[in-house]
Amino acid sequence: MLTLSIIKADTGGFVGHSAVHPELMAVARAAVERAVREGLLVDGTTAACGDDVSLVMTHRRGPDCTDIHSFAWDTFLATTAKARELGLYGAGQDLLSDSFSGNLRGLGPGYAELEFEERPSEPVLCFLADKTEPGAWNLPLYKMFADPFNTAGLVIDSKMHAGFEFEVYDLYEHARIVFSCPEELYELLMFIGAPARYVVHTVRSRALGETAAATSTQRLSLIAGKYVGKDDPVMIVRCQSGLPAVGEVLEPFATPWTVAGCMRGSHHAPLMPVSVPDATPSRFDGPPRVVGLGFQVTQGRLVGPRDMFADPSFDRARQRANEVMDYLRAHGPFEPHRLPLDELEYTTMSTLAKRLSARWQTLPEPAQDLATASAKA
Ligand code: F6R
Ligand code: MG
Ligand code: MG
Repeated sequence: MLTLSIIKADTGGFVGHSAVHPELMAVARAAVERAVREGLLVDGTTAACGDDVSLVMTHRRGPDCTDIHSFAWDTFLATTAKARELGLYGAGQDLLSDSFSGNLRGLGPGYAELEFEERPSEPVLCFLADKTEPGAWNLPLYKMFADPFNTAGLVIDSKMHAGFEFEVYDLYEHARIVFSCPEELYELLMFIGAPARYVVHTVRSRALGETAAATSTQRLSLIAGKYVGKDDPVMIVRCQSGLPAVGEVLEPFATPWTVAGCMRGSHHAPLMPVSVPDATPSRFDGPPRVVGLGFQVTQGRLVGPRDMFADPSFDRARQRANEVMDYLRAHGPFEPHRLPLDELEYTTMSTLAKRLSARWQTLPEPAQDLATASAKA
């Protein structure tokens, strides 16, 4: 069995929160190359989206492996040291603990891991996003694996006809549930339509009995109990031969859906699909970006990447994203651009509420008003 792991962290931004400095990428790349030489990894590469560094790695040690996670942790310590040397912004932002213990769960870095038996040809897409949250994958995953208007294979490929199982995490209650689709589509949508709380963690093919997609589900704000930076998500999707085709997996991103996470983790903005060089969100710390790295995985080797959103057929999505951004920005501090009060990652509300509490005057009960009105009538 092969495991594909994407482990990512923001260990310092260049400039502000907009991108990763090339010297940090060089540190990460050298570490991955060393790990391949020393046999820890079968193969590996590095990529950035916004201010996050991703390590894309194949190995035969399974998900949640201490050696792999501690290697990623050490690599992020090294990129943090470089970020400190260069005085980059928010150096070490996503490393929430002073020490590593066992695996990365709860320590800050995000990770998506998928273990599979490699098929004769294994096309895989790795998605990296910045200025958003793991729930941002819910809508695209629904379209890829459950919407026949997106994925023709659901109707005309007999291997896909049986449908897919969606494993959903409740990030507040630390619980999981599996929905079998198409039968439970409506139940699924009731939950994943609230992506701040319910997040699709994996998707599994019922006909093939194989896991087709895996996402990162950490929420840094919940882990740390206070704002510590956006938990920018990553996702792995295997494609073709009974799974959605590459084009069906990319198609949902032709619409720049509105996602949470832009500017201080507190605004909705459109998710713009971009090529790797354009993954540098600078307008209002956004709009949020997604890049798609395509690989053929061959005996564990990552043949690629192809920069999937470099295709001009995504130009209109980018143009629409800019238009939607203009429209949402015009709302300034008003919802739905600003997130609802209980989802803000920065807030002055508790201090304000205390300071102004004495000035709030209680209004008469509505029942009293009604009684007075009916007495008059
Ligand atoms: C970080 C992010 C940014 C910051 C903003 C304020 O990934 O989303 O929008 O929240 O730039 O950053 P601070 O509070 O560090 O000045
Ligand atoms: Mg940052
Ligand atoms: Mg980021």
